Amino acid sequence: MRAEDAPLIRLEDYRPSGWLIDTVDLDIVLDPTRTKVRSQLQLRPNPAGHAGAPLVLDGDELAPDSILLDEVPLDPALYSLSPQGLTIHAPPARAFSLRVETTLDPGANTKLMGLYRSSGVYCTQCEADGFRRITYFLDRPDVMSVYTVRLEARKAEAPVLLSNGNLVAAAELPGGERHFAVWHDPHPKPAYLFALVGGKLDHVRQPYVTADGRKVELAVYVEPGKAGRAGWALESLVRCMRWDERVFGRNYDLDVFNVVAVSDFNMGAMENKGLNIFNDKYVLADPLTASDGDYASIEAIIAHEYFHNWTGNRITCRDWFQLCLKEGLTVFRDQEFSSDERSRPVKRIADVRTLRSTQFSEDAGPLAHPVRPRAYKEINNFYTPTVYEKGAELIRMLKVLIGEDAFARGMDLYFERCDGTAATIEEFLDCLVEASGQDLAHFAGWYEQAGTPTVVASGRYDAQAKSYTLQLAQSTPATPGQSEKRPVVIPVALGLVGKGGDLPLASTSPALKAGGVVVLDQPSLSVTFTDLPEAPTPSLLRGFSAPVRLELDLGDSELLRLFSADSDSFNRWQALQTVATRALVRAGKGDGSALDTTATDLAKALSEFLAGPALADPAFAAQVLRLPAPADIAREIGRDVDPDVVHGAHRRLSAAIGVALADHLAGLRQDLGERGPYSPAAAPAGRRALRNEALGLIALGAPAEGARLSLAQFAEADNLTDRLAALAAMTLIPGAEREELIARFGELYAREPLVLDKWLMAQALIAEDGTLARVKGLMNHSAFSLGNPNRVRGLIGGFAANLTQFNRADGEGYAFIADIVIALDRTNPQVASRLLGSFKSWRMLEAGRRAKAEAALRMVQTTPNLSRDVADIAARSLG
Ligand code: ARG
Ligand code: ZN
Repeated sequence: MRAEDAPLIRLEDYRPSGWLIDTVDLDIVLDPTRTKVRSQLQLRPNPAGHAGAPLVLDGDELAPDSILLDEVPLDPALYSLSPQGLTIHAPPARAFSLRVETTLDPGANTKLMGLYRSSGVYCTQCEADGFRRITYFLDRPDVMSVYTVRLEARKAEAPVLLSNGNLVAAAELPGGERHFAVWHDPHPKPAYLFALVGGKLDHVRQPYVTADGRKVELAVYVEPGKAGRAGWALESLVRCMRWDERVFGRNYDLDVFNVVAVSDFNMGAMENKGLNIFNDKYVLADPLTASDGDYASIEAIIAHEYFHNWTGNRITCRDWFQLCLKEGLTVFRDQEFSSDERSRPVKRIADVRTLRSTQFSEDAGPLAHPVRPRAYKEINNFYTPTVYEKGAELIRMLKVLIGEDAFARGMDLYFERCDGTAATIEEFLDCLVEASGQDLAHFAGWYEQAGTPTVVASGRYDAQAKSYTLQLAQSTPATPGQSEKRPVVIPVALGLVGKGGDLPLASTSPALKAGGVVVLDQPSLSVTFTDLPEAPTPSLLRGFSAPVRLELDLGDSELLRLFSADSDSFNRWQALQTVATRALVRAGKGDGSALDTTATDLAKALSEFLAGPALADPAFAAQVLRLPAPADIAREIGRDVDPDVVHGAHRRLSAAIGVALADHLAGLRQDLGERGPYSPAAAPAGRRALRNEALGLIALGAPAEGARLSLAQFAEADNLTDRLAALAAMTLIPGAEREELIARFGELYAREPLVLDKWLMAQALIAEDGTLARVKGLMNHSAFSLGNPNRVRGLIGGFAANLTQFNRADGEGYAFIADIVIALDRTNPQVASRLLGSFKSWRMLEAGRRAKAEAALRMVQTTPNLSRDVADIAARSLG
């Protein structure tokens, strides 16, 4: 079958499996090129499924060495094999056992799905459909089984043997050269949560006692010699386990919890039951090889995968259309954890920046899809910002709409009622409905409708009546396959800000709910607030209460007033961002006339801010100092975008602010100079963030001074954060000093691949014509390899995120990425299709670039033998 002819899988076609698998016994003898897998399945007809169905087992790149049904070899006339698997035509209509033997070549598995070897370590990745690359199975999440796994290997090659659940036996085999371990997982689980690890690994560990009294051994496994970098992950694990007990009442449920870091991994990490496997980038940390951002990501991802134990594993998904049931909810949970551990407003701002840059852009382009898609060709292409980040926003809105207490009761009900099942969004929502007594039928539209709604707000003060009337209207642009859009339920958290702060909210409108939330659930509505002695400035969408675009009829001076007076930190930050965005959008469209005035206004507001309480919360101040990114401006413009013009405007505004604030920025760098040893804690990280944000502005405003400070900072730094910030600032300043620093950095970290990824990326992001040639040159660097996903994401992914250089007017950026996608597709389709996703905003470009991007996409699309992953993204991008 050609990839473009792959069948469309539809939600409405869901049927329960005809067969269930109660137990799985695996006996796996690990070998680099000839791994033996003996599987024994206990099958039975599904009472809820269709009787008399053939047994269609999934298999991918497999061939059976032998098949036994109830211990008797199966007559070849009774089954057939295809590239999709193994069909047993007339299985007995009762429970029976099936034994199948397969042989795998983990060393040749470059797709990194199924069983593979990463730097000599055997590991697995089975979500979404990798288990079928290990053995024949009903590889669907609603088939849940109890697994017992025996692993055998040469001791010298794999002294550590891990699988899901608890260790029940382990011993040396006669002769002393080989050994085995048996793992048993009592919790029934779908195949995508299966995992094994075998190899030479060091570990750090810690005993843990759960709130309900279970003794658990926690361990983090890493490559030999790297145990000194595993402490932060272990410490984060302990903190998130306590948090889940306290906040969600969730206890861990096995005797061991293992985390393993591997260096070749397609994504961030994987929540396999009791055996989480991680991209080592999200485990390893020490001050000189991990940045503050890395420490925060490790904490968040350790928590994310751990939280999946309840939201994902104990309660899994009925089918892959329900992916957001576990992912959106688990992202929400990890965001809440990080907010509690660090600063809530700063975390919210950072998350909203990510949401806008990744999800809003996805929603605005050809790859837009609902949080719960209705159809897919390749499920691995739906592990997207929409399913994850927008999915988390839906949970956040639900909490705002039904209130904290009802949300907590609804979650308890969900954990109780759906435990041990493969559930749906409907079942989840039903729990919230029951707990709150609220009707959420209309809200469910958020799961079905793609696109980012726009809310247009305008207000009028009536001095006579002392009332203020707020008009809100919503609309959602058409997205592929969804031309008609309906209104959704939008909780608009708001305040009315007067001279002395927030004014009391008095209104008889039914749209105003407790806690100052106006629920916009119609195309438009108006709310009148009374008893207002002065004209208020509305502060809307506080805390970013809904994932929408907001168009306000406030002038810059009112926004600047919100910046200084709003009680909502998020909206203080947002107010300044809006002022900058408006000016940059105009300039990006070619009218730069307002840019200087805006620079003056912003600089004035910022200098008052920096002179005032800014230093009390440096992490927040760092967010305030950082302008919206050029890509955000391009997205706001939305059509006929010339990235060079946008970038030029951004540079001009940043430089002007850098010049105007020069004294403040210098003073601030003095005041924030760190004393004492490095700590990744939120407070010192916030000080570094502000200091380094200032460095970036200085580098743009006064390059010579910026270079001097950057080189000094690099020389003195005792941590990667400050070194990287110095490098990033220098990349803004062309010249010999920059090249020397780049070279010095590269030598310093020559043996640290994860740091070199950042070094590669910093170079790939340089907004200059020479960058494409530089990136091509770096592909020959000894540290680079197309086979390692982290290297590809660093260098090639970095380039594809470079607004001006990926979108070069001559189209060479597109052609380069298209060539790499085609080459990578032969070895690793998932990484290739992710990279092809870099074209997701091509339709918003001006005509010349649009034509060149389209030509590159067509070149990919017409390449023979594409994977389903890449064929699907190419077709949808062009569709
Ligand atoms: N479930 C994993 C996580 O969110 C990610 C798995 C991604 N799998 C994939 N095929 N893209 O933590
Ligand atoms: Zn997840």
